[in-house]
Amino acid sequence: MRGITKTFPGVIALRDVNLSVREGEIHAICGENGAGKSTLMKVLSGVYPYGSYEGQIVFQGQERRFSRIADSEHLGIIIIHQGIGARGRSYRSPRISSSATNRRKWASSIGAWPSTGRGNS
Ligand SMILES: Nc1ncnc2c1ncn2[C@@H]1O[C@H](COP(=O)(O)OP(=O)(O)OP(=O)(O)O)[C@@H](O)[C@H]1O
Ligand SMILES: [Mg+2]
Repeated sequence: MRGITKTFPGVIALRDVNLSVREGEIHAICGENGAGKSTLMKVLSGVYPYGSYEGQIVFQGQERRFSRIADSEHLGIIIIHQGIGARGRSYRSPRISSSATNRRKWASSIGAWPSTGRGNS
């Protein structure tokens, strides 16, 4: 992500943010409440489509202009939303379910969640 700036009325949520991730790396994005973590991931995943932010998303060497979540998912960019606000109905993707259990089942199927045990953590 290059030079990402995202504003809401009266708020600059992201100002010229750069993030580079290579295949196989694991990163944590940390910051206080309102720092812009969720907004950055929403830009990356197409929740906020191309044209609604400034800057560039480059994935596997190509600039990407996502219009919707399905566009980023198609490339394997999958966001597992933390909260109850991430309801399957509004996101329309069967992979992002309103059920935490279903999200974990799906996450473990792609190796992003431990598959052992019954998953009560
Ligand atoms: N839909 C929106 N409309 C207006 N302002 C927003 C919207 N979403 C986020 N913001 C504002 O943008 C800034 C960044 O918010 P964001 O939710 O990305 O932060 P965060 O780092 O994810 O915070 P938290 O740790 O609380 O989840 C905050 O000032 C927030 O109030
Ligand atoms: Mg957040």
